[in-house]
Amino acid sequence: MSHDLPVSDELAAFMGAGWAAVPPPPGSARSPLADATAARRGRLSARFPGERLIVPAGTAKVRSNDCDFRFRPHSAYAWLTGLTGEDQAGHVLVLEPDGPHGHQAVLYVRPRPPRSAGSSAFYRDRRHGEFWVGRSPDPAETERATGIRCAPLEADAVLPPGRDATGDGELAAVLSELRLVKDAWEIGQLQQAVNHTAAGFEDVVRALPRALAHPRGERWIEGVFGLRARAEGNGTGYETIAASGAHACVLHWTRNDGRLNPRDLLLLDAGVETDTLYTADVTRTLPLSGRFTPVQRQVYELVLAAQDAGIAALKPGASFRDFHRAGMRVIAEGLTDWGVLRTPDGDLHRRYTLCSSGHMLGLDVHDCAQARADAYLDGVLEEGQVLTVEPGLYLQPDDETLPPALRGIGVRIEDDLVITANGARLMSGALPRTPDAIEAWMGELGAAAG
Ligand code: GLY
Ligand code: MN
Ligand code: MN
Repeated sequence: MSHDLPVSDELAAFMGAGWAAVPPPPGSARSPLADATAARRGRLSARFPGERLIVPAGTAKVRSNDCDFRFRPHSAYAWLTGLTGEDQAGHVLVLEPDGPHGHQAVLYVRPRPPRSAGSSAFYRDRRHGEFWVGRSPDPAETERATGIRCAPLEADAVLPPGRDATGDGELAAVLSELRLVKDAWEIGQLQQAVNHTAAGFEDVVRALPRALAHPRGERWIEGVFGLRARAEGNGTGYETIAASGAHACVLHWTRNDGRLNPRDLLLLDAGVETDTLYTADVTRTLPLSGRFTPVQRQVYELVLAAQDAGIAALKPGASFRDFHRAGMRVIAEGLTDWGVLRTPDGDLHRRYTLCSSGHMLGLDVHDCAQARADAYLDGVLEEGQVLTVEPGLYLQPDDETLPPALRGIGVRIEDDLVITANGARLMSGALPRTPDAIEAWMGELGAAAG
């Protein structure tokens, strides 16, 4: 680094001695996930007999010059190892074929440079040095924690070839498919993510007077939610969408640079990701004044009816497309009642809904995205799957097919649900969904702009 000062021999010698023995860093004790991750690796192993499988955590990405984006390990790596920290950058899990059937897992982990006169990395390496980024478990400590045999990751080592989860479609698909059904612990993590998200939405509602007064109120909201996400978990599971007025008609409005107008709705789509990397994905559309206008309420109630119909269609054995179809039928009929469409049949309602109305949720916000169609899009729901139901109406401000009063209104209602033995459980029910309940909740939190 051009601004780093050279180190004299005298300083190097001085730095290399005089350190007391340090206890092992956090994350060195046997993880409660060690048995579950071993079972996951076993299920993966059974699908690829005799083949070497490589699952990298991924590598840090430069944000600017010598500063990296905060590192988050690949979800498949986290799922197979239980390791979720920033310090996993560069680490690689390899499943080595062990005879014709099983595999032996080996985790390549960066050794921790010793604190000795011959090794300056511990105080000079900005990416990994313990005096720069904190002390991390070394291979022996990681082995104890994970129960996976660990080997030192050499800086320029080249791994023998094998199927690589980041490039091999078949391996990526199987990893996605194995993650479709969540176990009880994973559902607990997702519930925590949802609970923290609900707290973040409350924070936002309480902060609305400040946000309304700020020229970039959408950013203020993003920041308030981000504080909750970072304080309770690893951060947000995706970029927060804080979209007021017609910005709500942009599905992934993450610029968030708009001013808030008390006459408008705010569409807030945000989720907290836990330290274990499970994320919620929740949307509420709120009247910034604290009260829906009649036309806002009309649009909201149609989306809510669509969501209710979608949720009612969730149960084991239902096809994944059923809940989408049920919700979209309600939307198409509503648009027909309003005179916007001539008939609810066909797919012209999609001009006003734009996207599919739900997806699997887990370690990734759009979870299991590499799963093949027969297991996901054309498959059937199973107990233990967690998904969103998120119909919306996005009535563009310049859409001449719409009555002027409807133009520029965007509403999405998004909840997280887990499929149970005979239906689905709403995980995000702590947040109000009906217009009356939203108004009462906003009033209690003191948000009304007057
Ligand atoms: N927040 C992205 C989505 O709702 O799918
Ligand atoms: Mn979603
Ligand atoms: Mn969302």
